[in-house]
Amino acid sequence: MSRAAIVAKARDTQTLYAESMKPGRVSRTALNVAASMVTLGAKPGWRERLPAGLPELSEALLLASGAFPFSERALRLSQRPWAVRLASLGERFQPGAFEGLGRRKIFMDEQVQAAIAAGASQVLVLGAGFDTLCLRLAPEYPDVSFLEVDHPDTARAKQRAVNQLGCPDNMVMLSANLARRRLSKVLTECGAWETEAMSVFVAEGLLYYLPPEAVRQLFSEIRSSTGTGSRVAFSHLFDLFRYRLARAALYLEGEPWLSASEPEELESYLGPGWEILTTAPERGRRELEGLAVAGSGPAATMV
Ligand SMILES: C[S@@+](CC[C@H](N)C(=O)[O-])C[C@H]1O[C@@H](n2cnc3c(N)ncnc32)[C@H](O)[C@@H]1O
Repeated sequence: MSRAAIVAKARDTQTLYAESMKPGRVSRTALNVAASMVTLGAKPGWRERLPAGLPELSEALLLASGAFPFSERALRLSQRPWAVRLASLGERFQPGAFEGLGRRKIFMDEQVQAAIAAGASQVLVLGAGFDTLCLRLAPEYPDVSFLEVDHPDTARAKQRAVNQLGCPDNMVMLSANLARRRLSKVLTECGAWETEAMSVFVAEGLLYYLPPEAVRQLFSEIRSSTGTGSRVAFSHLFDLFRYRLARAALYLEGEPWLSASEPEELESYLGPGWEILTTAPERGRRELEGLAVAGSGPAATMV
């Protein structure tokens, strides 16, 4: 679908959604990541670097969500050169908060496609927010099942937006508070998950919203819900206390950071049975977040 067609479709359905939207606590950080992708797509050179269709679909989802302040006009303004400059300036104070999010999206996309090439038949994006990976890749890989799960308030808003844009047949959206519900139970109950199949999980911008014990619990749940060779591509905060400004802002937004891990401590952060296969960015370029892939079991070795 072309950019114009996607935006037109979202525009057609926006009023309907806005009228029926109940007040809930849709994750601001999830909306902000999607909005950053719209702005980043307008930065020279970035539209070509980002996975194809990502900025356009992010824009369409934000419009269809009806969430404040993402009107058509606001999203247009967010792509102006001054808005791009402002976002780039913000990244000087908080490394990784703009282009870093783009690198994160590229990393997750590459890892999911590599896992599919290695035989994964299921993709599950945890804490998906307004991410577009499943929407973009599901039509490309019709034999792979794509699932998303998010906190109920955000999942509901995303589901409505996706319904308006058209949900691929091989994509399922689930709603669960992962700090309170066992992932294995959520997956068994949904009826669209095969426990023995080789799978790839994405936990992008999620783990630091869970306390350390919930992170370990989540990875233990992932182990018991997948077949040999399964992997998790994830991002993690390096240091819970380093970025005081961002930490204070997130606390005030009601989405405080709760856990972090240095790269060398990742295996104990995730808990028993996990091996770190890849980490990024390379040492020396310290951003807010690190990126990594973990595997469980002997067949998890990267190809
Ligand atoms: C920073 S956003 C990232 C969204 C998306 N992964 C991305 O990178 O575009 C964090 C997401 O984690 C979700 N989240 C946070 N705590 C959660 C929980 N306990 N259970 C399920 N989802 C949660 C939020 O609803 C939100 O969508």
